[in-house]
Amino acid sequence: MFLVVCILLLSLPVTLSKQTFAQGNLAVILNVSEGIVTPHHGIKGEFSQQSLWCQATEDGETALELHNASFQRTYSPHRHEAEIDNGNRAYFKFGKPSTRDIGKYKCDMVTADGKRAWGNLFVYMRPVFHTNGSIRLEVPDDDDKFTVTATSIKFSEGDTVTLTCPAVSYPTPDIEWFKDDRPVVCCAKELAPGGTPDT
Ligand SMILES: *[C@@H]1O[C@H](CO)[C@@H](O)[C@H](O)[C@H]1NC(C)=O
Ligand SMILES: *[C@@H]1O[C@H](CO)[C@@H](O)[C@H](O)[C@H]1NC(C)=O
Ligand SMILES: *[C@@H]1O[C@H](CO)[C@@H](O)[C@H](O)[C@H]1NC(C)=O
Repeated sequence: MFLVVCILLLSLPVTLSKQTFAQGNLAVILNVSEGIVTPHHGIKGEFSQQSLWCQATEDGETALELHNASFQRTYSPHRHEAEIDNGNRAYFKFGKPSTRDIGKYKCDMVTADGKRAWGNLFVYMRPVFHTNGSIRLEVPDDDDKFTVTATSIKFSEGDTVTLTCPAVSYPTPDIEWFKDDRPVVCCAKELAPGGTPDT
């Protein structure tokens, strides 16, 4: 009995070293340069790197030849066929920055000899306001691009008014409300397309 256990333990590291696993650039930051963005019309800012990439390896050094690869995420478009460069590295190349780029991606690869490897990658962005034109937002101070004011709302006593704080970021933002500089407890959080809240 003792012998059997020893053999199992000894053979374990050998088995582990044959595992195929994913490597990649893990996280990219979308460095947005203004506090207001317009969904679907691009963002002023730059990616810290121009793509997400991943590769499959067994030893942590040699990239294995890939049969195919895709990048997946939980919101539309759900799946992007990867661009494979040099036969062994899968890329998701960014275009013009947009709020749709931020979030969590899964890189899923099948190697030329049929092994599968996958890993998660992330595109982060700080919180900003977004508007589709239904709320007017402005940056009143050119030296502080992330302080935003909305146009005032007029209403009569007894009316019900909904104030919205349309914020977007990845990870999803925490939002606090203040009235006359005092915190108020509230509010409903809605998820906008992209899995980012629109509160
Ligand atoms: C982000 O962009 C601003 C210009 O918009 C630049 O000054 C800043 O250094 C950038 N930050 C990073 C981390 O790249
Ligand atoms: C990759 O190849 C595997 C095995 O041939 C197949 O099942 C899978 O659908 C392919 N994926 C893509 C994105 O083509
Ligand atoms: C803009 O957004 C608001 C709230 O999110 C929505 O009710 C409205 O239909 C949108 N307008 C357009 C033109 O998409």
